Amino acid sequence: MAIPKIKILFNTEDLVKRNKELAHEIAKVADKRLLVISVLKGSFVFTADLIREMSQAGLTPRVEFLHLSSYHEGKTSSGQVDIIHDVQTSVSGWDVLLIDDILESGRTLAFAKDLLSARGAKRVMTCVLLEKPHKRAVNVNADFVGFSCPDVFVLGYGMDVAHSFRELPYIGIPEDNTNLVQAGENA
Ligand code: IMP
Ligand code: MG
Repeated sequence: MAIPKIKILFNTEDLVKRNKELAHEIAKVADKRLLVISVLKGSFVFTADLIREMSQAGLTPRVEFLHLSSYHEGKTSSGQVDIIHDVQTSVSGWDVLLIDDILESGRTLAFAKDLLSARGAKRVMTCVLLEKPHKRAVNVNADFVGFSCPDVFVLGYGMDVAHSFRELPYIGIPEDNTNLVQAGENA
């Protein structure tokens, strides 16, 4: 895939600073020994940075991964969320912090939150790196939000377009996305 021109929306410095702030906000209210559940694939970079800031803020989280997929036709979510890979330990009785990259329609986060609550988590808090306002299809909010994001397609820092660009150390907007076809699986 040709590399598009990318306009930087949040640079590495912005991300480092906000991760530190979020970790301190989380440390004020979460159990010291909480269970972090990272929603794959999009949140793996954010989670990796955030848990290290959480450690600096005095927390000792366990970390699990939940790979979910919401299927899209073009850029419109069909509403179906599937479990690709489940967490490997019991969540029963745990103070859970669910981490995702973007809160858009809310279907992914609502699905994950309901699943973990139904499995007996003591509490399920949610943290998203980006929130796209005015896009919500279901009633769910995140307890911790990194940044409000304009209603444009973004990439980098774990987030992909057709499985590429996750490695970029910043979040950007492709200046010309006409050649960027989004794959059916959007995770
Ligand atoms: P929703 O809240 O269930 O609609 O889905 C949000 C998910 O869609 C996120 O976890 C991302 O994986 C994906 N997503 C939404 N907007 C973008 C974007 O601008 N870039 C990359 N992925 C996105
Ligand atoms: Mg995702």
